[in-house]
Amino acid sequence: MNAETAPPHTPFEALGGKPVIEQIVNRFYDLMDSDPAYAELRAMHAPDLAPMRRSLAGWLTAWAGGPNDWFEQNPGKCVMSAHRGLGVTKATARQWINAMGRAIAAAELENQMLANELENRLTMMAAAMTRD
Ligand code: HEM
Repeated sequence: MNAETAPPHTPFEALGGKPVIEQIVNRFYDLMDSDPAYAELRAMHAPDLAPMRRSLAGWLTAWAGGPNDWFEQNPGKCVMSAHRGLGVTKATARQWINAMGRAIAAAELENQMLANELENRLTMMAAAMTRD
């Protein structure tokens, strides 16, 4: 088995690496920025979404087993704790999950089980961030 036929070792590789993660993240913030269904969620974010695009892509990359840069650049930072003071409600968490589900679907991943798993795990995390 050579490097080209070997199965991927991490979810990051199985997803398609950095280009696919960036595609999902960019679609997610494009949707948040343009669809009025996410207005409440959008209003929680800074006007410039560019730093968020970089940060979420970096976090997802490291979380999925890819390069660890986000954790090295944010020593000791926990994404769950970082959301504690943001006032995440069930309604805004639903908007986050809905936009993320659409962004993952738009990436048309070959591995549908992996796409479902990604969405399920993020859904569980977002639900655990709610404060109402
Ligand atoms: C699994 C779910 C989620 C993940 C992985 C995630 C990830 C992130 C990351 C990596 C950041 C940037 C942190 C930084 O660089 O300091 C961030 C910021 C933020 N997140 Fe989330 N997030 C999630 C769910 C949510 C939900 C459900 C909401 C709101 C309903 C939300 C609202 C925000 C806001 C308002 C910011 C700060 C934005 C800003 O300063 O412009 N997030 N999130």
